[in-house]
Amino acid sequence: MDAPQPYRVLARKYRPSTFSTLIGQDALVRTLSNAIDRDRLAHAFLLTGVRGVGKTSTARLLAKALNCVGPDGAGGPTIAPCGFVSPAGR
Ligand SMILES: Nc1ncnc2c1ncn2[C@@H]1O[C@H](COP(=O)(O)OP(=O)(O)OP(=O)(O)O)[C@@H](O)[C@H]1O
Ligand SMILES: [Mg+2]
Repeated sequence: MDAPQPYRVLARKYRPSTFSTLIGQDALVRTLSNAIDRDRLAHAFLLTGVRGVGKTSTARLLAKALNCVGPDGAGGPTIAPCGFVSPAGR
């Protein structure tokens, strides 16, 4: 039998954890990807929309992407963040 999974609230359980699983926001993902590639990142992001379209999820993904430093700490912003958290960063 599989080991029991730690409890995770519903809001986090089904939240997309990568840009590839964020549905219907292709233009945003492409724009951000281009911005990262060209080192032309915006200084602010304004997320609007009715309830539940993915504003909070997008903000969390943005934070992950822009704060990624890679497993060796030498990386930078990326559209595909590794998600690795160093023990010191927990
Ligand atoms: N674009 C999306 N792709 C995949 N899942 C989504 C998307 N938008 C929303 N969801 C699902 O709906 C849940 C709620 O989304 P989220 O919290 O990001 O919405 P929100 O726009 O911040 O809503 P609110 O206006 O209530 O703050 C997420 O946990 C996720 O499961
Ligand atoms: Mg929200």
